[in-house]
Amino acid sequence: MRIFVERILRGAGKLILNSSKNIVSKKDGVGNFVLQADLISEKYILESIKKRYPSHKVFSEENTDRIDNPENEKGLWIVDPLDGTTNAKNNIPFFSVSIAYVENGIVRVGGVYDPNRDELFLAKKGEGAYCNGIKISVKNETELEDLIVNIGSPYSTENFRLTYPMEKVFYEKGARMVNFGSAALEGVWVASGRLGAYFEAGLKPWDIAAVQLIVSEAGGRMVDPYNVGNFSVFNQKAVVIGNEKIVNKILKFW
Ligand code: IPD
Ligand code: CA
Repeated sequence: MRIFVERILRGAGKLILNSSKNIVSKKDGVGNFVLQADLISEKYILESIKKRYPSHKVFSEENTDRIDNPENEKGLWIVDPLDGTTNAKNNIPFFSVSIAYVENGIVRVGGVYDPNRDELFLAKKGEGAYCNGIKISVKNETELEDLIVNIGSPYSTENFRLTYPMEKVFYEKGARMVNFGSAALEGVWVASGRLGAYFEAGLKPWDIAAVQLIVSEAGGRMVDPYNVGNFSVFNQKAVVIGNEKIVNKILKFW
């Protein structure tokens, strides 16, 4: 399965690079578009999964099918065919493809591919996290002054209002703030020790399912500050990602 995930991530990434970035439709929220590249990548991934695992279900961003009680599914794929659509639309080379394989609510395999840098982040439950085959781990730093914190950019006003006030809080604790524009890629950049922490409200399962496993296999944690101790990729209000000590410090901000 790991090799299959790697193959479709790379295939989808290549398709995105070569696909039109024209807008096909608009979704709810500010600047929330679907590009031809989203749909071309999604079609390729969904057809590949269906061919290889015909009995499995797929929960994918641009697909209209929604799954009731995803935690009860024995073979479920969660797909973001293009994460960082705004960047792709504007020729900014920071976007990714994210795929997770989930059994009964537990992510077993997670992969995020950055086609611009040809970096493939992958984890299998219990077997560590890797970037292009090299083991990765979260940063060790325990002080916010030493870290870069990435704040996400939600489309909806409700999630924007939960997310952006926190930028001031992090800033006042001494962190450097950035926002690169692909939650999945930013999440695995925390897993690989490039970024110190990530925060955003209102992320969807396809933004974080693969990241959750990669971060935890890299020695880090993903937590919902509104529901600490009860994390589900299917049901969270916001996510904080970082090493254990930094996450515990950040949780005190609420
Ligand atoms: C978005 C990106 C963005 C994050 C948004 C996501 P999309 O995903 O990951 O960085 O801040 O919340 O919805 O629309 O590019 O797949
Ligand atoms: Ca997407």
